[in-house]
Amino acid sequence: MSVVDEIKGRLDIVDIVSETVKLRHSGKNYTGFCPFHHNTKTPAFAVFPDSQSWRCFGQCNEGGDIFSFVMKREGWDFPETLRYLAERAGVTLQEFTPEEQEQVEENEHLREVLSMAVTFFQHQLRNTAAGKAALDYLYARKLTDETINAFALGYAPASWDALTNYLTSRQISLDALIKAGLVSEREEGGVYDRFRHRLVIPIRDHQGRMTGFGGRVLRPDDIPKYLNSPTTAVFDKGRLLFGLDTARREIRLQDQVVIVEGYLDVIGPYQAGFKNCVSPMGTALTEDQFRLIKRYSRRIILALDPDAAGQQATLRGLETARQSLEREGELFFDSRGLMGIEGRLKADIRITTLPEGRDPDEIALEDPDRWAQIIKDAKPVVIHVMETLAQREDFDDPKAKEEIAAQVLPLIEDVRGSVEREAYRQRLARLLKVDERALVTRPAGRPARRRGTYRPAPEDPVIITKAFLTPHRQLEQACLLALLSDPTLLNYIDRAFRSFELACIHVDDFSDTDHREIFKLLKESIDQEAEEPLNFIHERLSAEMKEAFTENTPEETYPDWRLQPTDPKLEALVRTFIRLRRVRIDEGLDQLVFLQTQERDESGEFSIDVKKTALEYIQVRAKLDHALQQSFARAK
Ligand code: UTP
Ligand code: MN
Repeated sequence: MSVVDEIKGRLDIVDIVSETVKLRHSGKNYTGFCPFHHNTKTPAFAVFPDSQSWRCFGQCNEGGDIFSFVMKREGWDFPETLRYLAERAGVTLQEFTPEEQEQVEENEHLREVLSMAVTFFQHQLRNTAAGKAALDYLYARKLTDETINAFALGYAPASWDALTNYLTSRQISLDALIKAGLVSEREEGGVYDRFRHRLVIPIRDHQGRMTGFGGRVLRPDDIPKYLNSPTTAVFDKGRLLFGLDTARREIRLQDQVVIVEGYLDVIGPYQAGFKNCVSPMGTALTEDQFRLIKRYSRRIILALDPDAAGQQATLRGLETARQSLEREGELFFDSRGLMGIEGRLKADIRITTLPEGRDPDEIALEDPDRWAQIIKDAKPVVIHVMETLAQREDFDDPKAKEEIAAQVLPLIEDVRGSVEREAYRQRLARLLKVDERALVTRPAGRPARRRGTYRPAPEDPVIITKAFLTPHRQLEQACLLALLSDPTLLNYIDRAFRSFELACIHVDDFSDTDHREIFKLLKESIDQEAEEPLNFIHERLSAEMKEAFTENTPEETYPDWRLQPTDPKLEALVRTFIRLRRVRIDEGLDQLVFLQTQERDESGEFSIDVKKTALEYIQVRAKLDHALQQSFARAK
């Protein structure tokens, strides 16, 4: 048994969750208000003692075990959570190896050294003439003493050895200074202070432990404008976010985080009361950083200057963008990448564009209402890209429209929820003033379907690309093909579904418009008596449809259920229909989450009974899974 299993065996998730969530009995399970998103109307959070798991059927649409719950609640990583739960469960963890132990202690020491440097720099800022100039600079940027202290801002004197002397006189070794990134080594031996005549900004990790510094020039002509700590055992730019230690509480409370570009853009809004901002340190955001943030909130807003926002929208390749960068630190996002991250992390990423030439720190301090509005104006990535592209001057040119569609459609295709995806498609159609049916996509690089299955009519709009077969569409098609070989099979499938307490197959089990039409026809064919069902269908099926279907007809023919009701092929067919329904149910759940997000954004409250609807879906899903198992068992 693993330590994790042992801990799980000793603790009860209901106890742990109850510490922060008021739980109510609901059958053998418990429900309550989800602690991870704001909502006082629908108790969409459930705890299942049997499986020792939890789930939010509301906006989060997330769940897990006792570990994931504590990690999310406390914003801890796995090792921290493991230590905590192990202690509560009275389980002793394996000790570190001597080397690991040594590294832990060394890192601890480096953080101490860095903290001593913070004290030194703060002292310089407050008590020296040169420091006074730096302090005045901060005042000129409208920062108060309270803010300056909250971020422990300091001043590094214009000296090659002031910090080194201070720390070595306190028994800190040169080796530690080098490892902490506070000094640089001279080629001829010896060291010198890394930060000189700069405003220094301590950078802490999400737990508030010191990791390094960002140093801003005070003479406008000095370069680089910001000098950061080098990578050390405790400082890794790609895994840290500036301000997360001071912001994390507020991020969780507001269930929203704003990513800004620079250090001062975190500090200014903080002083103005917007304490949910964090920033990367002059590098593009990494997936690690998104993961780090997502522990506190899935609702992530990127506040970008117009350049970055425009660049983001034009979907330039990462390499081109890199080449065009003047300095290492340019913030760069690629919308496709963002969509990927959004999907993988189940995050809600939005973009807001800042006014030309104005940084968050100025806006928030001078006009807090404006900052609030800017945050409110944040748009989903797809919408942002659409709207930015729509500002093209040649927008009315059909070729420009084609290009815009070609850029936006792949993004839309990446959207997970079907309702959300459809909404974007409609929006794009309206924006481009073309028929929505023209905006069906085919993934890049995949050839159009084989000749014969589809031929665009000459009058079709330029942007038409034929729908490709997603696995779901293939599933729909497989079901229809079977029914087209013998429409009366539907009676058999329906009977099987009823035996599983499932509703009969209905048109909503199909999503593709063509498929829905064919299904309606199939259903009509068995509800009428005048004609042979197959004849009935073939007389009414359009030529293209017939062609499409016959072209793809698999070799196998479906059995006649009236003659061999126990044919394993029939059983397999039932399972195919079960899977079809299952996909729809999962989509339904996605939709629920999306509808909710939408509604919540506008009114702050939900109008649909999320829990009820979600539980209905979940129940159907459970029945479907049960049916699948039964069907497999029967086939054996
Ligand atoms: P900016 O150049 O936009 O500066 O860099 P800023 O944040 O607006 O700073 P102020 O308001 O002029 O003081 C944005 C961020 O990029 C990183 C820093 O984290 C900075 O805050 N950066 C910038 C570097 O790391 N190195 C640089 O040379 C410049
Ligand atoms: Mn700025």
